[in-house]
Amino acid sequence: MTTTAMIPTYFKRYRMEIDLTRQEFAPVQMPVGYQAIRWDPAILNAHAEAKYLSFRDELDANVFSCLSNLSGCKWLMQRISSRGDFVPQATWLITRGGRPDEPVVYCGTIQGLGKPEGHGSIQNIAIIPAERGNGLGTRIIRLALAGFRRAGMTTAGLEVTARNEDAIRLYKRLGFGIVRTVFKVIELPYTSPSG
Ligand SMILES: CC(C)(COP(=O)(O)OP(=O)(O)OC[C@H]1O[C@@H](n2cnc3c(N)ncnc32)[C@H](O)[C@@H]1OP(=O)(O)O)[C@@H](O)C(=O)NCCC(=O)NCCS
Repeated sequence: MTTTAMIPTYFKRYRMEIDLTRQEFAPVQMPVGYQAIRWDPAILNAHAEAKYLSFRDELDANVFSCLSNLSGCKWLMQRISSRGDFVPQATWLITRGGRPDEPVVYCGTIQGLGKPEGHGSIQNIAIIPAERGNGLGTRIIRLALAGFRRAGMTTAGLEVTARNEDAIRLYKRLGFGIVRTVFKVIELPYTSPSG
């Protein structure tokens, strides 16, 4: 016989920031066959699908349970995009395909919020597993950072789970530095033999 209890689990996360006033924003070239699509409320579900397919098997789906299912990702996109501090210029979708007889693949998404004092906050950066390692993550972040700058932001930041080493390496390469360590507490089920 087994018993299941909810126990608090601590996830170490880093806040990382970048100074946008020291960046050069060269135009972002997409690889042939890929498109960078600006935010439009009509493509909310496409962002949600890219977010869901990117996060469903990742550690962050434990930290933020809404990332583990499509309806949760739609809810999250709705919540982010309806906020007063939503920054559409920093919100992008990357797609592949779309020519006649070619399906459109939603490859990745990023969203931005902005504080009045000029700090842009990146929400979820997500590239679907089959498209990783080809520079799309780098490009979508550059698109968002340039969008924050156009919206008048002087700094931008994000929060990343400390075990997400690939992502942290990517952010450092782009110029982000760690400014703070935070711990997020999540209740996770733990099953143990009873007796
Ligand atoms: C983090 C993430 C957005 C990066 O996207 P990406 O398109 O792979 O990014 P890039 O190709 O520009 O760079 C990824 C880095 O990992 C390397 N890499 C190679 N193959 C890879 C693969 N299959 N998967 C991930 N990274 C790979 C790249 O070479 C690059 O390394 P470098 O920075 O040392 O040069 C993507 O891995 C992802 O969506 N992860 C799941 C969701 C997540 O954790 N998001 C971040 C939340 S804060």
